[in-house]
Amino acid sequence: MEKRKEVSKFSTSKSVKMKSTLKKIALGLLGALIIIQFIRPQRNTAAGISQNDISHTMEVPVEVHQMFVKKCYDCHSNNTVYPWYANVQPVRWWLDSHVNEGKEHLNFSEFKTYNQKRATHKLDEIGEVLAEGEMPLKSYTFIHREALVTPEEVTKVNAWIVSLNIKELKN
Ligand code: HEC
Repeated sequence: MEKRKEVSKFSTSKSVKMKSTLKKIALGLLGALIIIQFIRPQRNTAAGISQNDISHTMEVPVEVHQMFVKKCYDCHSNNTVYPWYANVQPVRWWLDSHVNEGKEHLNFSEFKTYNQKRATHKLDEIGEVLAEGEMPLKSYTFIHREALVTPEEVTKVNAWIVSLNIKELKN
């Protein structure tokens, strides 16, 4: 009888200890979550359309350019339109990682600075990702349904790219 009592006493104190440890961890996480809200990375919002925007270096049909602005510029330009939840960390870091990575691969705001080879390659890639339905990112269109690219838009972009006669551009 004595022994059993001891065992149960022991296990109770152990579970009390564990509970208080869990409580400390939860409070620590909550504290960290509050603290990171004060981290405000700079926004990717340049003033107006860039001097080096793609529309300043080649003829882009208005509809095609508008489609890029509406459906691609959040990650591929110097002008991101931030949703309200961009104010919440760590969501913001996650969004920023897409913007930074997206801009590295293709930045419509800097297109004029691309040399012929890079520009041609990027146009090829644009045609490719649209044909494959790879862009915009799924995690983006999941929320931004309006950013889904329609088959008509893909056709228009392709017609435009073909009209640029990329083979000629390559030389
Ligand atoms: C939510 C952010 C986001 C949006 C919106 C978005 N992209 Fe991207 N894009 C990325 C990221 C991140 C990468 C680089 C990683 C990858 O390829 O998945 C990328 C890569 C690319 C590449 C390079 C692919 C390669 O093989 O290197 C092209 C071209 C591209 N995107 C075109 C577009 C076009 C066109 C649109 C609009 C119809 C668009 N993207 C919309 C985030 C985005």
